[in-house]
Amino acid sequence: MFPYFAEAVSSEYFFDVSAIEPDPHMRKQAQNRAERLDLDVEIRSGVAKSLPYADDSFDIVIASMVFCTIPNVETAINEVVRVLKPGGEFRFLEHLADDGWRRRLQGVLAPLWKTVAGGCHLTRRTPSLFAQVEELDIVELERMSIGVTPVRPFVRGRLVHRRREGLVRGSTAIKNAFVKP
Ligand SMILES: C[S@@+](CC[C@H](N)C(=O)[O-])C[C@H]1O[C@@H](n2cnc3c(N)ncnc32)[C@H](O)[C@@H]1O
Repeated sequence: MFPYFAEAVSSEYFFDVSAIEPDPHMRKQAQNRAERLDLDVEIRSGVAKSLPYADDSFDIVIASMVFCTIPNVETAINEVVRVLKPGGEFRFLEHLADDGWRRRLQGVLAPLWKTVAGGCHLTRRTPSLFAQVEELDIVELERMSIGVTPVRPFVRGRLVHRRREGLVRGSTAIKNAFVKP
């Protein structure tokens, strides 16, 4: 994802980018990548179930290929809602359970895959879980036939944090983005 942020930051928009990564090795890799891209990003140690940020901190939260691994999806999505400003966007790219013979193969491989792939679940239907969150409205969902079995298909989407009554609609300029590297 970092190359996309680097491109966006160097365009007409101004972003502050913050990120979390619990694994020290992956965090170092992400830091090196950011430096090569000249991307100014604060990468903290942290986990999705307890984000190290205050309430209503971000205009945009981005998750990329991480909700397959997070142990408690419900707690993590509640954290996304907590740190998003009212009217802010949650954007994601995740792989999910397939159909037919591919789904059956995913089911067979899932226990071994979870062990060797850092806790990744092959058969989650993550976007359906996002759709159940009362505070989020779906703006866009696209199922994409990309990836290689058992890690396919993918879904990308945008959900908006519903504004609470009494809050005034603010500027649409993007000021902060919390992103997963
Ligand atoms: C498949 S990688 C995706 C990396 C990157 N986001 C990308 O799009 O290329 C999954 C990442 O999620 C991290 N991760 C695992 N459990 C997590 C958790 N509970 N909270 C936050 N990140 C987690 C892993 O350390 C790993 O770096």
